[in-house]
Amino acid sequence: MRPDRLRNPARDELEVLEDQIAIGNGDQDPQKQAGEAGAGCFQRGRDARPTGYWSRDVFLVVAGAPTPARGNLIRSVEDFHGAGRQGNLVEADGAASSASTRSWLPSGAIVLAPMDGVTDHVYRALITSRARPGRISLCVSEFIRVTDRPISDAAILRGCPELSRGGTTQSGVPVMVQLLGGRAEPLAASARRAVQLGAFGIDLNFGCPAKLVNRHDGGAALLKAPERIEGIVLRVRQAVPLDHPVSVKIRLGWESVDEVVPIAVAAERGGASWLTIHGRTKAQMYGPPADWEAIGRARASVSVDVVANGDLSTDSSLERCRDASGCTHFMLGRGPMGRPSLLCGAANGSEAQQLQMLTSMLVEYLERLSAAGNPEYRQVARVKQWLSLGKTQNADVAPVFERIKRLSKRAEVLAALSSG
Ligand SMILES: Cc1cc2nc3c(=O)[nH]c(=O)nc-3n(C[C@H](O)[C@H](O)[C@H](O)COP(=O)(O)O)c2cc1C
Repeated sequence: MRPDRLRNPARDELEVLEDQIAIGNGDQDPQKQAGEAGAGCFQRGRDARPTGYWSRDVFLVVAGAPTPARGNLIRSVEDFHGAGRQGNLVEADGAASSASTRSWLPSGAIVLAPMDGVTDHVYRALITSRARPGRISLCVSEFIRVTDRPISDAAILRGCPELSRGGTTQSGVPVMVQLLGGRAEPLAASARRAVQLGAFGIDLNFGCPAKLVNRHDGGAALLKAPERIEGIVLRVRQAVPLDHPVSVKIRLGWESVDEVVPIAVAAERGGASWLTIHGRTKAQMYGPPADWEAIGRARASVSVDVVANGDLSTDSSLERCRDASGCTHFMLGRGPMGRPSLLCGAANGSEAQQLQMLTSMLVEYLERLSAAGNPEYRQVARVKQWLSLGKTQNADVAPVFERIKRLSKRAEVLAALSSG
């Protein structure tokens, strides 16, 4: 027994778990000790395969999970806190050996980015229905703000209406519920409730640069205190059943790209299932090009998966980002709004086909917005917003935006879209 290793105040989760945990001497069979302790093993991953915890001198098991299978082991206490909880299992027989990472994400995952006021359930339904089969692995909801108390079911369902139909889009793509806030307890309670309501998983937003949000201790404000990120992730991870991921979305830092490594390490230590990193600092907002090399430095310092994000607007940019960062998972926000063939329709179409696809998607978007009960002004505003973001990624979209930017009637917008 090594209780001293449980008393790290920065890791209060373990103290809470203490009475559920059996820690044994590594000289003995973990399976036997787990049985004697009346405990099972730590369970992780979507497939919820039983795992134990093992190092040269201790192993750790958590009550209530299936009996540990020898040879399906996590390396160390550090692993329990970080990568080992989610990713790095050691396929060892009794002693630690080299790590083999198992991932929550399918290989080469593409995640549809959350964009507040843009990527609502209507947008998610449209894009995932038009996407090539298997192209989009996951969506993330726009952020839902959590302040000093847990949010209501209504707020969760408003942010992620897909929960009423199994937590996926109509095309079957799972949606993570994104929460934003700076207080661990209400975030944890809200996260647990969202999962009870059917969320595939929880994404924590530590990247939003909006002044109002940051002034209220949310989003990127937390980047200034990596230990707070660790504490919040721990609490949320503790509250959410282990067969649901808790991912974390960050920027490179508040002011300097050098902040990203300690921030990423803190998120991993908190137990994040994976990290999504937008390759800019809060101070940079959306200014300079995304720094994919800095994402790569963070990736190299953690064992969980890293999803690269920022300025991925062409197939070649995905390749360059892969080369620069080493990442094989990507999150796409504005890119497909300017160049939908990144995700939808035939890949590598001509620019003319690209624009044709875009306008036909916008026509369908208007129909879907209307069917979802959005008033005319909002339908028109949404199309303008799509095009204004899309033109930042593809200059060919600018003329389409110019044609509609002063229109206020739905019928006029439809006519302008068809006139291209
Ligand atoms: C209008 C807008 C709203 C956004 N809202 C969110 C949000 O709700 N949650 C979040 O984590 N990121 C949000 N982001 C950031 C994006 O998810 C993404 O990190 C950023 O746009 C960079 O990726 P991109 O170059 O692929 O667009 C937002 C970005 C924009 C432009």
